[in-house]
Order: sequence, then C-alpha cells, then structure tokens
Amino acid sequence: MPLWLVVELTYKCPLKCPWCSNPVDFDRYRNELSTEEWIDVLREGRRLGSLQLGFTGGEPMLRKDLEVLVGEADRLGYYTNLITSGVGLSPERLRALKTAGLKQIQLSLQACDQELNEKLVGLDVFRHKIDIARTIKAEGFPMVMNVPVSRFNIDQTEAFIDLAADLGVEYLEFANLQYYNWALINRAELIPTREQLARAEAQVNAARERLGKKLTIFYVVPDYYDNRPKACMNGWGAIHLTIAPDGTALPCQEARLIKGIDFPNVRDHGLDFIWRKSQAFNAFRGDAWMKEPCRSCSEKERDFGGCRCQAFLLTGDAANTDPVCTKSPHRHLIDDLIAKVRPRTVDPETPLIMREAGRRSKRTEVG
Ligand code: FES
Repeated sequence: MPLWLVVELTYKCPLKCPWCSNPVDFDRYRNELSTEEWIDVLREGRRLGSLQLGFTGGEPMLRKDLEVLVGEADRLGYYTNLITSGVGLSPERLRALKTAGLKQIQLSLQACDQELNEKLVGLDVFRHKIDIARTIKAEGFPMVMNVPVSRFNIDQTEAFIDLAADLGVEYLEFANLQYYNWALINRAELIPTREQLARAEAQVNAARERLGKKLTIFYVVPDYYDNRPKACMNGWGAIHLTIAPDGTALPCQEARLIKGIDFPNVRDHGLDFIWRKSQAFNAFRGDAWMKEPCRSCSEKERDFGGCRCQAFLLTGDAANTDPVCTKSPHRHLIDDLIAKVRPRTVDPETPLIMREAGRRSKRTEVG
C-alpha cells in the first residue's frame, strides 16, 4: 500500500543547489499537471490507502494553487507536509496554508551564515529563511529543519544545532547527500571526509544528551561510508509513491533516471493500476529479480539489495547489488572514490556545477 505519497508539484525552483535531486534535464518536463489533475491524484491516493502526503518540487510554493491542494488533501484525511526552501513563503501564505489544514513544514537550510548559504544555493536568501522559520514557529506549525550535508557545511554541525534550538524547531534532520542527478555531477566536491563525519556524529550525540526531548536530531551516516546498503524506500513499490510534475508515477523520486523502464503516467492510467499492475512498479518487488550476491544473501529481507537507482547509476544495471554493499563485486567503485576524498572548502579551482536549465549531462550515467 502506498502509505507515503509524494507529489512533486513543479520542477521549477529559484535556487541553484548543486546537489538538487531533480533530473539534470528537469526543464524538459514542462507539462505540469493542472489543479484538477492533482486533485484526482490525491483522491485516488486516499482510495489506495495513502496517509502521509508530501508537497515538494522544485519549489512547491511556486504553485499558486498550493493552498487549494492542501485544503483538498486535508478534507480527504491526509497528514500533510510541505517540503520547501522557504522562498516564496510569506506570512500571508503561511496563514492561508494553516487555514487550509497544512500539518507540518520541512524547511531547508544550507548554512548558518549568509555568505556560505549564498555560495551553496546561488541566491541571497539566508535572512529570509531565518525570518520565515520564526514565522512558521509563531504560526504554531511543527517544523523540521532539513540540512543537506556536504563537505562545505558539515563543520557547522554545532552551529546548526544551536540555531535549531534557538528557533524552537522540533526536528533537525542532517540529511547526508545521496549522490544522484546533480549531486552525482558534483560528488567529488561535495562528499565529506571520514574525519568530518566522525566529528559531526560526536557533536550530534553530545547535543542529544544535552538537549534531550527539546530537539529531536536525525543523523544518518552517508551510505558510501557504510558496509551495507540502505533499505531504500523500504523496498521498491512497497510503501512509497511519487508523482512527478508531468504526472509520471515513480517508486522513488530518482527512479526516472533508470533507463529501460517505462514509467506510467497518471494521465494515461489510474493509480490503482499503476500501483498494482504496472511493469514499472513490479520490476523490483519480491526477490525473483535479484542477482547474486543478493539472491542467496541472508540479509536480503532487511535491505532488499539496497538502492536500485544507485545500482543503475554506478554499475549500469538496476538489478545489480547496490555497490555500497561490501559483498558487491562493484564495491571498489565506492572505495576508490572515498580514498580520494580530501578536506576542502569552497574552491574556485573546482567550482560546483550549479543547477540550471539546459544541461544535458551524460555524467549522471556513469560511476
Ligand atoms: Fe531510487 Fe533508491 S533512490 S531506489
């Protein structure tokens, strides 16, 4: 059952984050669903049993009908969550979203100072983000502060914790980057060192002791530094359903990067068919698709062979074991990369490639 429905309302975004999870050729998909089409998706999702609904993008605040969609979602009985950079969010729209029934807001913050934040997102929005975070709390929303963690901001871990505590947010999520799409293009520049990660983890643990229930801190080690892969999406087609701006239905937000799968569109099929019957959603359910070493592995029920998107990006075959696993014959791809990671701050010699329209890179298709 797709308990967790994520609707990517648009790929448009004013920011230029060099780790953006949207497709590298995001500007190809211009045919966004209309308000009525989104409402149909929400209704069908509830009929299928979806409970948790995330509004994301791109920047979902760019959709003028967001309040209408949130209102309909609330009437349908979803627990609604807005995932936003805060750009386009004003006190007036926050109040309108509250009235419409929005339950929770996840606001991203990339650095604890204006200068680094602007370098990382390509726009001077730091002050606005802090102001809007205060307004979110003043309006009484539970809030997640989401920090996309890279080599550039990981040394601000303690400052992020202090800021989150000061703002009074309930949850602070250190989201170590996943290397797909734009993040994969910039991987060599973004990935933190093992020492940086160990230091940040110790700081998080100390803060958890200090702050107790006042602030819940999520911190997940990036999978490249782990021995076993993550149980991505809880398994393909298990509980997660994403609808892209053009209506393409995906088992995860990255899945359209896997070539050779014909992902269905809500303009052509009902969600019930898509979820239960479509070839795309059944491609990696169960374990019949697995190759060795996954097929005979005692841990396959726990991690489902890892991430299909990562397996495709790094090995060229989505049915391979995620190369993060030390049992994978491709693990050397990860080890070679980690061995080359050096501490570095923003370096003008190797500038980050910022998200922008018109890029048609092949670099996302190779390890
Ligand atoms: Fe697509 Fe992991 S991100 S399966």
